[in-house]
Amino acid sequence: MDEIPEGEAVSAKPLDSILWTHIMIQILAWGIIYPTGMVLGIVHSRWHVPVQILGTVLAVVGYFLGHAHKGRQFAKNVHASFANWLMFFLLAQVLVGIYLRLHLEKGGHARIRRYVVATHGVMGKTLPVISWVQMLFGGITALGFCRGDHLGQCLAHFIMGSAFIGYGIILTILLLVGQYWLKRSGRSQEFFDSLLIAAWGCVNTFTEHRWGGPWVKNDIQHTSMGVVWWCAGLLGVYLSRKRDGRPKRNLFPALVIILTGWGMSAHPQSLELSTHVHTVFGYTLMAAGAVRVIEIAFVLKDRNTVDEKNFEETSSFQYLTPFLLYTSGFLFMGATEEQMALLAGAHVTHVSYILILFSISFLLFLFVIMLLHLYAAHVWPVDRNPVVLPKVNGRAVGNGHLRGDSQRLRDVEEFELEGLMSDEEDARYHRRVSSSSSSGAGRRKENGRPG
Ligand code: HEM
Ligand code: HEM
Repeated sequence: MDEIPEGEAVSAKPLDSILWTHIMIQILAWGIIYPTGMVLGIVHSRWHVPVQILGTVLAVVGYFLGHAHKGRQFAKNVHASFANWLMFFLLAQVLVGIYLRLHLEKGGHARIRRYVVATHGVMGKTLPVISWVQMLFGGITALGFCRGDHLGQCLAHFIMGSAFIGYGIILTILLLVGQYWLKRSGRSQEFFDSLLIAAWGCVNTFTEHRWGGPWVKNDIQHTSMGVVWWCAGLLGVYLSRKRDGRPKRNLFPALVIILTGWGMSAHPQSLELSTHVHTVFGYTLMAAGAVRVIEIAFVLKDRNTVDEKNFEETSSFQYLTPFLLYTSGFLFMGATEEQMALLAGAHVTHVSYILILFSISFLLFLFVIMLLHLYAAHVWPVDRNPVVLPKVNGRAVGNGHLRGDSQRLRDVEEFELEGLMSDEEDARYHRRVSSSSSSGAGRRKENGRPG
């Protein structure tokens, strides 16, 4: 029986316990277990398959619970329709995974294996992104938000908010495990930042206004934001190289973040709560840009984190920029008209709401860093029994914790090779490597590969 009032998206009843269980189980499976399993897959851990099987069992249980709920009723919704695509995607991923696990390595199978692994790898890394989208859809559906006139605003907040969080995650990855990749790319961080900003700016320059129609609401402001991005992006790309072609840092992507925070927080709001949340959002984004300026100019003094002389330790200050980007993202996603009206109606103050959003950012930042440590623990294990290294000019060349740049780069190369080798070659290679070096590859072998 349809209890949804005419023109509404949800019925008045609360969510029942079956639906709450669905939500908890799916967040656990898609939000925590699969991303952890993904990292275990990337590092070829023997735990990859069991962890993903556990995730799949939970996901399937959660799927049926999603269908079985009573309580609040929902009109036709995007969460329900996207769920089918997602489950189809998962099924394909699991089937390919099972195929790989069977280790069919004769004839045609051997030839196609590397392509199958690559496909499984790309799909596996896409999965957390589409799970994120589905979880947002779930929240929107549960509250009946983002319909009719609200859709445009919802899209703007959720896409931009997710983009800030995504950018924050990419910066965290580059900071903690991507420095060697960056070094090998021969480009500075600002080259990639500026390129992204320029590309996004081009898109926004043309998509924020209905061309041919009148300039309405905030679209002139959004379009000008697009313009400033590609202009600054071009400058940033140009300045990211020295005249001799070596990478060089610059402050323009940081300046763009500051301008964006200032611009976006200045939109007029109807509710007082909304004004407060938007203001704090603007300050947070401006702070992210400002600490980036300090980091590059004063903490790193224009160095890349890894260079010939200083190849170790991320400075504690460097964690601030990515963290503030996560927070800006959550603040912005949490500031749509409907959310603001709901909270104002429930007499939630801006202080408590903003603290909750900060708490969520702390948790996500923690989770991302834990995953990156899991990755690093397999790729660059910390040697607890350091080998005594020869001394050069009276100073040790490195120790168990602080291993040299070249050692790490070699580890990465060996690790990348590992995925492409057959077991026999592998064993021969490892015998050779372990007789010439005492750490790294041999230890990874103990960690095992799936299967
Ligand atoms: C339960 C079913 C699954 C099985 C049996 C399975 C099996 C495997 C196996 C055997 C490998 C190693 C391939 C090789 O290097 O030879 C692998 C790698 C991988 N798996 Fe899975 N997998 C499953 C589910 C998943 C899921 C759900 C994800 C995504 C979250 C995922 C992400 C990955 C990734 C990212 C790699 C690394 C691929 C690379 O080296 O580029 N797997 N998987
Ligand atoms: C990525 C993980 C998730 C998946 C794969 C998933 C999947 C599903 C499926 C298959 C249904 C049944 C849809 C139908 O009746 O046709 C459903 C319903 C529902 N889910 Fe999820 N869900 C996930 C996460 C969440 C989250 C995080 C929330 C809330 C915050 C949520 C809220 C809901 C709601 C409110 C319904 C009822 C919709 C209806 O009856 O039409 N889900 N979900």
